[in-house]
Amino acid sequence: MYDKFSVVKTIRHSSWQVRDAGTRVVFRVDSEELIFVTGATGFLGTQLIRGLLKRQPRAKLALLIRDRSGQLGRQRADVIVPAGERTRVEVCSGDVARPDCGLDATVYRRLRATTTRLIHSAATVRFDHSLDEARRINVEGTRHVLEFAAGMRELKNLAYVGTAYVAGERSNLVLESELDVGQSYRNTYEQTKAEAEALVRSYLGSLPGVILRPSIIVGDSQTGATSSFKMMYWPLKIYARRLWRTLPGFPDAVLDIVPVDFVARSVVHLLFEEAAFGSTVHLCAGPRGSATIKQIARRAAEYFQVDEPRYVDPKLFFAVVRPLLFMALWGRKRRVLRDGRAYRDYFTMRVQFDTSNAERLLGPAGICPPPVLDYLDRLFQYCVASDWGRKPVSAQ
Ligand SMILES: NC(=O)c1ccc[n+]([C@@H]2O[C@H](COP(=O)([O-])OP(=O)(O)OC[C@H]3O[C@@H](n4cnc5c(N)ncnc54)[C@H](OP(=O)(O)O)[C@@H]3O)[C@@H](O)[C@H]2O)c1
Repeated sequence: MYDKFSVVKTIRHSSWQVRDAGTRVVFRVDSEELIFVTGATGFLGTQLIRGLLKRQPRAKLALLIRDRSGQLGRQRADVIVPAGERTRVEVCSGDVARPDCGLDATVYRRLRATTTRLIHSAATVRFDHSLDEARRINVEGTRHVLEFAAGMRELKNLAYVGTAYVAGERSNLVLESELDVGQSYRNTYEQTKAEAEALVRSYLGSLPGVILRPSIIVGDSQTGATSSFKMMYWPLKIYARRLWRTLPGFPDAVLDIVPVDFVARSVVHLLFEEAAFGSTVHLCAGPRGSATIKQIARRAAEYFQVDEPRYVDPKLFFAVVRPLLFMALWGRKRRVLRDGRAYRDYFTMRVQFDTSNAERLLGPAGICPPPVLDYLDRLFQYCVASDWGRKPVSAQ
């Protein structure tokens, strides 16, 4: 009976296949996976690593981590990787902005020969970097990762973490297939992530890969936990603390936010999803799940027991009101006025992200983003419990 079957080790996909006499594959066993990940120390990266270790119990991970603040990459990884999992994780010091990702030549060659999947999540997410600095990390960094991936003989898939905000200042429905439609960008982050995505797209003809575009990532939908209090947290904090109530924006502006657990789970799932190859996926709440500024502000007002915001036309505010206030205010309020400028675009956005491809690929696995209003209170709770990131919160 056994002579009707043959066992084949596929070279490119490093898996064992059992084929019948007609060479039809009847059974396939993936041998050990080696997953190379950049950005592991980040807000999203930390959750990605935990998700990979949990959902891929046989996989080994290679993490590219920068040596920083007097700590080696290996030492920095200790806070991300649970003690019981360290034998499955190799940490490589590197820097994506440097040629060959700054990896030691021997490590580079070995990983090039053995990596089966790759997640590129490293980026600078600062809005205030110069174009040169943002390009060095986001565009050239991505180029170095792609060149590395192009030499990987065993590579089955590459997941590139982009952002839905490559849509820049668009104010209509953005399709997952679209990238450059002549839009302008609000900052060097959006621009360089768009340039990097264009680069990834140019490789996707020859490399198996998928582009993943989260919108604004916030804390965990179940616990509210977050390690990042940037993005929407800063305006929320000053509002909750009654430091500012005037909102230069539109009550009907749309805020598309997604919890970090949804994004991490989606990235891990799509890394193994062949149907996603070559496509772009919006990891967004989408038109059905996102909320307006007014809805979010109302919930925050109820939760923090503050008055609802006063809405002011943003053009009038930035042209007239703000310069006058800047002269009249000092101390804390002046600092709020100064720092708040970086967040002005949150309150005027009317862009929506189509999620058809995401629903097609993630729906069958039961992965979908919870509507923003369903978990908002848990985010608020965590902000209070952690004093906006100042004190640790014990895991529930
Ligand atoms: N947060 C969001 O709301 C959001 C939304 C949409 C998309 N994204 C995308 O998601 C990804 C992760 O974002 P995040 O929020 O997790 O950002 P983050 O917390 O700032 O993490 C960024 C990660 O990239 C690493 N990194 C930066 N420059 C590097 C370099 N030159 N070489 C090697 N590693 C480098 C950082 O390492 P260090 O620890 O050494 O700095 C860190 O691990 C990014 O690609 C971002 O564009 C984020």
